[in-house]
Amino acid sequence: MSQIFPGLRFFSRKLIKPQDLNAHGTLFGGAVLAWIDEEAAIYCICQLNKKNIVTKYMSEINFVSSAKVGDVIEIGMETIGFGRSSIKVRCEVRHKFTKQTIIKIDEIVFVHVDENGKSTPHGVTEPVND
Ligand SMILES: CC(C)(COP(=O)(O)OP(=O)(O)OC[C@H]1O[C@@H](n2cnc3c(N)ncnc32)[C@H](O)[C@@H]1OP(=O)(O)O)[C@@H](O)C(=O)NCCC(=O)NCCS
Repeated sequence: MSQIFPGLRFFSRKLIKPQDLNAHGTLFGGAVLAWIDEEAAIYCICQLNKKNIVTKYMSEINFVSSAKVGDVIEIGMETIGFGRSSIKVRCEVRHKFTKQTIIKIDEIVFVHVDENGKSTPHGVTEPVND
């Protein structure tokens, strides 16, 4: 059966605060990557309905534009594929109001693992759209 993917969905928003800035006074890349990893993990937990997943791979990260203190950003995720034990998503972070892209990651892979940390089938083949 062909898979129908729902497109990017933006669940999570963040207000940029002074502690999220780099030495130049703009959004620190490490902060936004931590938010993305957490948001992607929650998204994949919901897609697979399983908690024991680990981040396996992130493709090239494209820092397209910046953000400053007081800006509101939103983090979007889209499922792009299911494997035996893996799920592949893509991510885009953008300004909430202008919709200007801040960061794009074309591929993030999470792997479902057993109690010994070995990959194990998740049994899911279709995206959950709720
Ligand atoms: C996740 C982990 C258990 C996978 O181990 P592994 O020996 O690669 O397992 P497998 O060979 O069975 O591969 C598991 C899946 O990952 C996929 N995979 C492996 N390497 C990959 C890579 N470089 N890029 C994308 N997918 C990859 C495989 O295709 C496979 O997918 P499938 O089961 O859907 O077909 C292991 O690499 C690990 O524990 N990594 C550390 C995870 C971690 O701690 N993350 C936190 C961030 S530091």
